[in-house]
Amino acid sequence: TTSPSTPHPMCYDWGESSSGAVSVLEGEVGWLFCHLFSHPSVYNYTSAQSTGHNLFWYRLLDGHEVEQPITYRNKSSCSKIAMRLKVLKQDQVVPFTGCEPHSLVAVATTQEFIPFQEGKKLNCPDLKDITTMSETTPTVSWFHKALETSRDNSLMFYNMKEPFQGLYFCVIRYQRRGQVLNFTQSINVSAIYPLMVSKVPSILQPTKDKVFSVRTDSEVSLVCRGLLSFVLGNSASSIWWTVDGKTVEQLANNRFSQKNSVVNNDYGDRTEESVLLIQDFQAEDLNRELNCSVRNSLGFMTRRAQLEKEVSLPSVELGCGLGVILVLMLLLFVVYHVFWLELLLIYRSWFGTDERHTDDKEYDVYISYARNSEEEQFVLSTLRSVLENELGYSVCIFDRDSLPGGTITDETLSFVARSRRLLVVISPGYGSQGSQALLELKAGIDGMALGGHLRVILIQYKPVQRQRWVRELRRARVALATVQWQGNKSKDLTSQFWKRLRVELPVRRVSYSVPLCRSTAEHLYLQS
Ligand SMILES: *[C@@H]1O[C@H](CO)[C@@H](O)[C@H](O)[C@H]1NC(C)=O
Ligand SMILES: *[C@@H]1O[C@H](CO)[C@@H](O)[C@H](O)[C@H]1NC(C)=O
Ligand SMILES: *[C@@H]1O[C@H](CO)[C@@H](O)[C@H](O)[C@H]1NC(C)=O
Ligand SMILES: *[C@@H]1O[C@H](CO)[C@@H](O)[C@H](O)[C@H]1NC(C)=O
Ligand SMILES: *[C@@H]1O[C@H](CO)[C@@H](O)[C@H](O)[C@H]1NC(C)=O
Repeated sequence: TTSPSTPHPMCYDWGESSSGAVSVLEGEVGWLFCHLFSHPSVYNYTSAQSTGHNLFWYRLLDGHEVEQPITYRNKSSCSKIAMRLKVLKQDQVVPFTGCEPHSLVAVATTQEFIPFQEGKKLNCPDLKDITTMSETTPTVSWFHKALETSRDNSLMFYNMKEPFQGLYFCVIRYQRRGQVLNFTQSINVSAIYPLMVSKVPSILQPTKDKVFSVRTDSEVSLVCRGLLSFVLGNSASSIWWTVDGKTVEQLANNRFSQKNSVVNNDYGDRTEESVLLIQDFQAEDLNRELNCSVRNSLGFMTRRAQLEKEVSLPSVELGCGLGVILVLMLLLFVVYHVFWLELLLIYRSWFGTDERHTDDKEYDVYISYARNSEEEQFVLSTLRSVLENELGYSVCIFDRDSLPGGTITDETLSFVARSRRLLVVISPGYGSQGSQALLELKAGIDGMALGGHLRVILIQYKPVQRQRWVRELRRARVALATVQWQGNKSKDLTSQFWKRLRVELPVRRVSYSVPLCRSTAEHLYLQS
C-alpha cells in the first residue's frame, strides 16, 4: 500500500507472511488475501482506503529479484508483505479423501453441525458469487471420502447419523473468459445431540451437599465439573471460579490459580472441569465466597463451594503406632513359622498334663519295626538310646525286653496295651504276613480305636511308597502322625525330627532314665 506526497518514500517490508503458503491444486481456482489486513488493529483496509492508500498486487517469481511495478515517487508511506502460493500437481494429492484438506482446498473449511435424526440441506458456500461471474450455468459435484455423492447444487441430509460425519467437498465447475475452471470448497460436517435435550448448562460437581474439607497452611484444590451443552448458532460457553465475586484474574492474588480442561466431549455436549488451586490456605480463606459458575448462550448456573476445616489427626503418632504394631505382628508371624515346634514344646511343658498321673501304663513308648532290616540298626542304636538316655522315656523293645518262655502273641499284646505310644518304623517289608510287626501294628490300631490311651506314631526312616504299605497301615494312615527321618540332618537332638517326635510323645518335664520296661516285664512274666 502506498499513500501520496513524499519525495523519498520508504517501503516497510514485512517479509514473507508467517501464516504459511497457500496451496492450490493445478487447474483449480484459488484466492489470495492480503495478509497486511489480517491484523486490523495494525492495518485496517477501510481506514487505509480512506486515507488515500492504494493496494497493489505484484508477483515475484522464484529466482527473480525484482518485479516492482509501483513507482514510489510522491508517496508518503508504503508497506508490503509477501505471500507464497504453491501450485500442486494433480498427481501430488489424492483428492477428496479429507486427509489433507488444506493441501487441496484454497479456502478455509466451513463447519456445519447437524443434530442426530434431524435433516439439513447443505449449500455449496460460494455458489452465488460464482454464478454471477460465470459465463455459463455452473455445475456442482459433491464428494465424500473420495466418492462422488451427488451432482446437485445442494446436498441433503434427511436423517443425520454418526457415519455421515466428516469432510464434504463441493466442486463448482464454471466458465470464465472462455476457460473451464474448477473451484473446490470443503465443509466439515459434525453430528450433535438432538435439540430436544435441554442445552441449559449445569454444575455436576460439587453437588449441593458436598463439603470440601480443607487443611490450613497447605495446598487446597477444589474441583468443579460442569456440563456445557452445544448450542447451535452460538457455541460460546465457559466454566470458571470466582472468589468473593471476582474471577481469578480480577483477584490477582498469586495464591489463587485456576486450571481448566475438557473431560469429555460427547457430540458437542462437553463436560468441562475447572480446578481452583489455593496455595498456603489460610483460616480467613474459609470465609471467602468461592463460587463455581457455568454459562452458555442459553443459561447460567453458579454454586458456592462449602468448606470445612479438617480435624487434624496426630498422624505422625498414629502412623508410628501402626508401624510398630505391624512390625510386631510380622515378627510374631516369623517367630511362629520358624519356631512353632519349639513354641509347642514350651507350651506343652508348661500346660500339658503328665499322662503318668492319669493312666496306669508302664511304658511310654513301644517300638515296632521290621526285624532283620536296615531299620533295626536305627531302632536299636539311635531311636532307643536317644529316647531312653537323652529324653528320659521308658522304651519297650520286645526282642530286648521280653523274656524267653512266654507266648509271643500274648506278650506282644500285653506290652502294647501297657504302652502310651506305639512307634511304628516303616520300612519296605514292614508288617509282612505273619510277622510280629503286623501283630504289634494291629494291637496298636485296635488299642487306638478302642480308646485305650494309646496312640500310634509313624516314623519314616527312608521314603517308602504308600502303595507298598500293608493294608492295615494304609487304612489308618490318615489318623496317624508321621515323622520323617532326614538323614544326617536329623542326627542332632535339636533337629526337626526330634522336636516333632517329642511333640507326639507324652509330656516329660525332667529327664531321667529308668529302664522300667525290663523290671515290669519280669514282673509280668512271673505273674503269668
Ligand atoms: C474439475 O472437476 C471435475 C469433476 O467435477 C474433474 O473431472 C475435472 O478433471 C476437474 N478439472 C480440473 C482442471 O481439475
Ligand atoms: C477499521 O476501521 C474502521 C474505522 O476506523 C472501523 O469502523 C472498522 O471497524 C475497522 N475494521 C476492523 C476490522 O477493525
Ligand atoms: C507526482 O507529482 C508530480 C509533480 O511533482 C505530479 O505531476 C504527478 O501527477 C504526481 N503523481 C501522482 C500519482 O500523484
Ligand atoms: C471437523 O469437526 C470436528 C468437530 O468439531 C473436529 O473435531 C475436526 O477436527 C474437524 N475436522 C476438520 C478437518 O476441520
Ligand atoms: C455463589 O453461589 C450461591 C449459591 O450457591 C449464590 O447464592 C451466590 O449469589 C453466588 N455468589 C456469587 C458472587 O455469584
